Amino acid sequence: MYVLGISGSPTDRSNTDRLVQAMMSSTGAEGQEFVKLSDIQVGPCRAHLKCTETNRCDIEDDFQELSRKVLQADALVLGTPTFYNGPTSFMRAFIERCYSLRHQRLLLRGKLCAIIVVGTSTEQAVADWMGKVMAAEGLEVLGSLAIKGSMCCMSCGHGKDCAYTIWNTYSKEMTGVDRGIKEAYLPYMEVLPGNIPYQKGSAEIKVSYRDATKERPVMQRVESLGKLMTTKHDERRKGLVRIG
Ligand SMILES: Cc1cc2nc3c(=O)[nH]c(=O)nc-3n(C[C@H](O)[C@H](O)[C@H](O)COP(=O)(O)O)c2cc1C
Repeated sequence: MYVLGISGSPTDRSNTDRLVQAMMSSTGAEGQEFVKLSDIQVGPCRAHLKCTETNRCDIEDDFQELSRKVLQADALVLGTPTFYNGPTSFMRAFIERCYSLRHQRLLLRGKLCAIIVVGTSTEQAVADWMGKVMAAEGLEVLGSLAIKGSMCCMSCGHGKDCAYTIWNTYSKEMTGVDRGIKEAYLPYMEVLPGNIPYQKGSAEIKVSYRDATKERPVMQRVESLGKLMTTKHDERRKGLVRIG
Protein backbone atom coordinates (compact mmCIF):
# COMPACT_ATOMS: atom_id res chain seq x y z
CA MET A 1 0.00 0.00 0.00
CA TYR A 2 1.19 3.51 -0.78
CA VAL A 3 0.02 6.04 1.81
CA LEU A 4 0.34 9.73 1.13
CA GLY A 5 0.15 12.04 4.14
CA ILE A 6 -0.62 15.69 3.50
CA SER A 7 -0.47 18.35 6.19
CA GLY A 8 -1.93 21.85 6.02
CA SER A 9 -0.03 23.05 9.08
CA PRO A 10 2.44 25.88 8.47
CA THR A 11 4.33 25.53 11.75
CA ASP A 12 7.40 23.50 12.65
CA ARG A 13 6.24 22.32 16.04
CA SER A 14 3.03 20.97 14.68
CA ASN A 15 0.65 18.54 16.29
CA THR A 16 -0.98 18.07 12.89
CA ASP A 17 2.27 16.96 11.23
CA ARG A 18 3.12 14.54 14.00
CA LEU A 19 -0.35 13.02 14.14
CA VAL A 20 -0.47 12.56 10.38
CA GLN A 21 2.94 10.88 10.48
CA ALA A 22 1.90 8.71 13.43
CA MET A 23 -1.16 7.51 11.55
CA MET A 24 0.89 6.79 8.46
CA SER A 25 3.40 4.70 10.40
CA SER A 26 0.63 2.79 12.20
CA THR A 27 -0.56 1.56 8.80
CA GLY A 28 2.78 -0.24 8.41
CA ALA A 29 2.49 0.48 4.68
CA GLU A 30 5.52 -0.32 2.54
CA GLY A 31 5.15 2.99 0.68
CA GLN A 32 4.79 6.19 2.71
CA GLU A 33 5.34 9.80 1.79
CA PHE A 34 4.63 12.95 3.77
CA VAL A 35 4.01 16.35 2.16
CA LYS A 36 3.83 19.61 4.09
CA LEU A 37 1.83 22.00 1.94
CA SER A 38 3.52 25.08 3.38
CA ASP A 39 6.84 23.79 1.98
CA ILE A 40 5.54 23.76 -1.59
CA GLN A 41 3.44 26.07 -3.76
CA VAL A 42 -0.20 25.05 -4.19
CA GLY A 43 -2.43 28.05 -4.83
CA PRO A 44 -6.23 28.22 -4.81
CA CYS A 45 -8.52 27.21 -7.69
CA ARG A 46 -9.05 30.01 -10.23
CA ALA A 47 -12.13 28.41 -11.77
CA HIS A 48 -10.79 28.36 -15.34
CA LEU A 49 -12.84 25.17 -15.69
CA LYS A 50 -10.55 23.83 -18.41
CA CYS A 51 -10.15 20.82 -16.12
CA THR A 52 -13.71 19.81 -16.87
CA GLU A 53 -12.46 18.45 -20.20
CA THR A 54 -8.96 17.31 -19.27
CA ASN A 55 -9.04 16.34 -15.57
CA ARG A 56 -5.91 18.43 -15.32
CA CYS A 57 -5.48 21.78 -13.62
CA ASP A 58 -3.57 24.17 -15.86
CA ILE A 59 -2.22 26.39 -13.06
CA GLU A 60 1.52 25.93 -13.09
CA ASP A 61 2.60 25.26 -9.54
CA ASP A 62 3.44 22.26 -7.37
CA PHE A 63 -0.05 20.76 -7.59
CA GLN A 64 1.02 19.23 -10.90
CA GLU A 65 3.50 16.97 -9.13
CA LEU A 66 1.40 16.56 -5.99
CA SER A 67 -1.63 15.43 -7.99
CA ARG A 68 0.49 12.69 -9.58
CA LYS A 69 1.31 11.42 -6.10
CA VAL A 70 -2.33 11.69 -5.04
CA LEU A 71 -3.39 9.64 -8.05
CA GLN A 72 -0.77 6.97 -7.32
CA ALA A 73 -1.71 6.69 -3.65
CA ASP A 74 -3.94 3.92 -2.34
CA ALA A 75 -4.74 5.97 0.73
CA LEU A 76 -4.56 9.58 1.84
CA VAL A 77 -4.07 10.84 5.39
CA LEU A 78 -5.10 14.49 5.38
CA GLY A 79 -4.38 16.71 8.37
CA THR A 80 -4.99 20.35 9.09
CA PRO A 81 -5.09 22.72 12.02
CA THR A 82 -8.31 24.70 12.45
CA PHE A 83 -7.99 28.36 11.44
CA TYR A 84 -11.06 30.61 11.63
CA ASN A 85 -13.42 27.66 11.92
CA GLY A 86 -12.06 26.10 8.75
CA PRO A 87 -9.00 24.25 7.50
CA THR A 88 -5.87 26.36 6.90
CA SER A 89 -5.64 28.14 3.56
CA PHE A 90 -2.95 25.62 2.58
CA MET A 91 -5.34 22.69 3.00
CA ARG A 92 -8.28 24.59 1.52
CA ALA A 93 -6.25 25.38 -1.62
CA PHE A 94 -5.25 21.72 -1.96
CA ILE A 95 -8.88 20.60 -1.66
CA GLU A 96 -10.03 23.18 -4.21
CA ARG A 97 -7.42 21.99 -6.66
CA CYS A 98 -8.67 18.40 -6.33
CA TYR A 99 -11.71 19.76 -8.17
CA SER A 100 -9.75 19.17 -11.38
CA LEU A 101 -9.67 15.43 -10.71
CA ARG A 102 -13.39 14.84 -10.45
CA HIS A 103 -15.01 15.67 -13.79
CA GLN A 104 -16.36 12.81 -15.86
CA ARG A 105 -13.87 10.24 -14.54
CA LEU A 106 -13.96 10.89 -10.77
CA LEU A 107 -10.27 10.02 -10.48
CA LEU A 108 -10.15 9.84 -6.68
CA ARG A 109 -13.00 7.32 -6.51
CA GLY A 110 -12.39 4.50 -4.08
CA LYS A 111 -9.15 5.80 -2.57
CA LEU A 112 -9.05 5.33 1.17
CA CYS A 113 -8.92 8.48 3.27
CA ALA A 114 -8.52 9.44 6.91
CA ILE A 115 -8.75 12.96 8.24
CA ILE A 116 -7.13 14.60 11.26
CA VAL A 117 -8.19 18.08 12.34
CA VAL A 118 -6.40 19.77 15.22
CA GLY A 119 -7.84 22.78 17.00
CA THR A 120 -8.72 24.29 20.31
CA SER A 121 -12.46 24.64 20.05
CA THR A 122 -14.09 24.32 16.61
CA GLU A 123 -12.09 21.39 15.20
CA GLN A 124 -15.07 18.98 15.20
CA ALA A 125 -17.02 21.06 12.68
CA VAL A 126 -13.98 21.18 10.37
CA ALA A 127 -13.44 17.42 10.68
CA ASP A 128 -17.09 16.83 9.74
CA TRP A 129 -16.85 19.24 6.81
CA MET A 130 -13.67 17.70 5.45
CA GLY A 131 -15.11 14.21 5.75
CA LYS A 132 -18.13 15.21 3.66
CA VAL A 133 -16.06 17.08 1.10
CA MET A 134 -13.63 14.23 0.51
CA ALA A 135 -16.48 11.70 0.35
CA ALA A 136 -18.08 13.89 -2.32
CA GLU A 137 -14.82 13.61 -4.32
CA GLY A 138 -15.37 9.85 -4.32
CA LEU A 139 -12.92 8.79 -1.61
CA GLU A 140 -13.87 6.23 1.00
CA VAL A 141 -13.50 8.23 4.21
CA LEU A 142 -12.74 5.81 7.04
CA GLY A 143 -12.87 8.44 9.76
CA SER A 144 -12.37 12.08 10.64
CA LEU A 145 -10.62 12.71 13.94
CA ALA A 146 -11.03 16.02 15.76
CA ILE A 147 -8.19 16.53 18.23
CA LYS A 148 -7.44 19.28 20.73
CA GLY A 149 -4.04 20.85 20.10
CA SER A 150 -2.07 23.69 21.54
CA MET A 151 -3.83 27.03 22.14
CA CYS A 152 -1.92 30.01 20.76
CA CYS A 153 -2.86 31.69 24.08
CA MET A 154 -0.65 29.17 25.84
CA SER A 155 2.52 30.59 24.34
CA CYS A 156 1.83 34.31 23.72
CA GLY A 157 2.64 35.46 27.24
CA HIS A 158 -0.42 37.69 27.77
CA GLY A 159 -2.48 35.20 29.73
CA LYS A 160 -3.46 37.67 32.42
CA ASP A 161 -4.46 40.78 30.47
CA CYS A 162 -5.64 40.11 26.91
CA ALA A 163 -8.93 41.46 25.49
CA TYR A 164 -9.30 38.38 23.25
CA THR A 165 -8.78 34.91 24.61
CA ILE A 166 -9.84 31.51 23.36
CA TRP A 167 -11.20 30.45 26.73
CA ASN A 168 -13.64 33.36 26.62
CA THR A 169 -14.48 33.55 22.91
CA TYR A 170 -15.41 29.89 22.52
CA SER A 171 -16.61 29.27 26.08
CA LYS A 172 -20.02 27.79 26.76
CA GLU A 173 -20.92 31.02 28.56
CA MET A 174 -20.29 33.11 25.40
CA THR A 175 -21.54 30.76 22.67
CA GLY A 176 -24.08 28.53 24.39
CA VAL A 177 -22.20 25.52 23.01
CA ASP A 178 -19.92 23.35 25.11
CA ARG A 179 -16.84 22.72 22.95
CA GLY A 180 -14.98 21.02 25.77
CA ILE A 181 -12.46 23.83 26.24
CA LYS A 182 -12.68 23.96 30.02
CA GLU A 183 -12.22 20.23 30.39
CA ALA A 184 -9.48 19.97 27.76
CA TYR A 185 -7.32 22.84 28.98
CA LEU A 186 -7.86 22.56 32.72
CA PRO A 187 -4.47 20.89 33.27
CA TYR A 188 -2.76 23.67 31.30
CA MET A 189 -4.31 26.85 32.74
CA GLU A 190 -6.45 28.31 35.47
CA VAL A 191 -8.96 31.08 34.70
CA LEU A 192 -8.59 33.75 37.39
CA PRO A 193 -11.39 35.69 39.15
CA GLY A 194 -10.60 38.97 37.32
CA ASN A 195 -11.49 37.43 33.92
CA ILE A 196 -14.02 39.58 31.97
CA PRO A 197 -14.75 38.30 28.43
CA TYR A 198 -13.74 40.77 25.68
CA GLN A 199 -12.32 43.17 28.29
CA LYS A 200 -9.69 41.35 30.26
CA GLY A 201 -8.89 37.73 29.82
CA SER A 202 -7.17 36.56 32.92
CA ALA A 203 -5.65 33.15 33.34
CA GLU A 204 -2.56 31.59 34.78
CA ILE A 205 -0.99 29.58 31.98
CA LYS A 206 0.87 26.64 33.44
CA VAL A 207 2.23 24.93 30.32
CA SER A 208 3.24 26.67 27.08
CA TYR A 209 2.49 23.85 24.65
CA ARG A 210 0.12 20.93 24.44
CA ASP A 211 1.70 17.96 22.71
CA ALA A 212 -1.23 15.81 21.61
CA THR A 213 1.09 12.93 20.69
CA LYS A 214 1.84 12.44 24.40
CA GLU A 215 -1.83 11.68 25.12
CA ARG A 216 -2.56 7.97 25.06
CA PRO A 217 -6.29 8.24 24.15
CA VAL A 218 -5.41 10.49 21.21
CA MET A 219 -2.74 8.11 19.96
CA GLN A 220 -5.10 5.14 20.34
CA ARG A 221 -7.64 6.85 18.06
CA VAL A 222 -4.96 7.79 15.55
CA GLU A 223 -3.38 4.34 15.51
CA SER A 224 -6.63 2.44 15.28
CA LEU A 225 -7.71 4.50 12.26
CA GLY A 226 -4.32 3.80 10.65
CA LYS A 227 -4.78 0.07 11.26
CA LEU A 228 -8.31 0.20 9.86
CA MET A 229 -6.80 1.68 6.69
CA THR A 230 -4.51 -1.34 6.33
CA THR A 231 -7.32 -3.80 7.07
CA LYS A 232 -9.55 -2.18 4.44
CA HIS A 233 -6.76 -2.17 1.89
CA ASP A 234 -5.95 -5.85 2.54
CA GLU A 235 -9.63 -6.83 2.35
CA ARG A 236 -9.92 -5.13 -0.99
CA ARG A 237 -6.82 -6.83 -2.29
CA LYS A 238 -8.15 -10.22 -1.25
CA GLY A 239 -11.43 -9.33 -2.95
CA LEU A 240 -9.56 -8.51 -6.13
CA VAL A 241 -7.60 -11.77 -5.98
CA ARG A 242 -10.84 -13.76 -5.60
CA ILE A 243 -12.49 -11.93 -8.51
CA GLY A 244 -9.40 -12.47 -10.74
C1 LIG B 1 -4.76 32.23 12.59
C2 LIG B 1 -5.28 31.19 13.55
C3 LIG B 1 -6.64 30.99 13.66
C4 LIG B 1 -7.15 29.99 14.51
N1 LIG B 1 -8.50 29.78 14.55
C5 LIG B 1 -8.99 28.74 15.27
C6 LIG B 1 -10.39 28.45 15.24
O1 LIG B 1 -11.20 29.11 14.60
N2 LIG B 1 -10.82 27.37 15.95
C7 LIG B 1 -9.97 26.57 16.67
O2 LIG B 1 -10.41 25.59 17.26
N3 LIG B 1 -8.64 26.83 16.73
C8 LIG B 1 -8.13 27.90 16.05
N4 LIG B 1 -6.78 28.17 16.06
C9 LIG B 1 -5.90 27.34 16.90
C10 LIG B 1 -5.18 26.23 16.15
O3 LIG B 1 -6.07 25.39 15.47
C11 LIG B 1 -4.39 25.42 17.16
O4 LIG B 1 -3.40 26.25 17.69
C12 LIG B 1 -3.79 24.13 16.64
O5 LIG B 1 -3.33 23.39 17.75
C13 LIG B 1 -2.60 24.30 15.73
O6 LIG B 1 -2.24 23.04 15.23
P1 LIG B 1 -0.72 22.63 14.99
O7 LIG B 1 -0.09 22.39 16.31
O8 LIG B 1 -0.77 21.41 14.18
O9 LIG B 1 -0.07 23.77 14.23
C14 LIG B 1 -6.26 29.20 15.27
C15 LIG B 1 -4.86 29.43 15.18
C16 LIG B 1 -4.37 30.41 14.33
C17 LIG B 1 -2.88 30.64 14.23
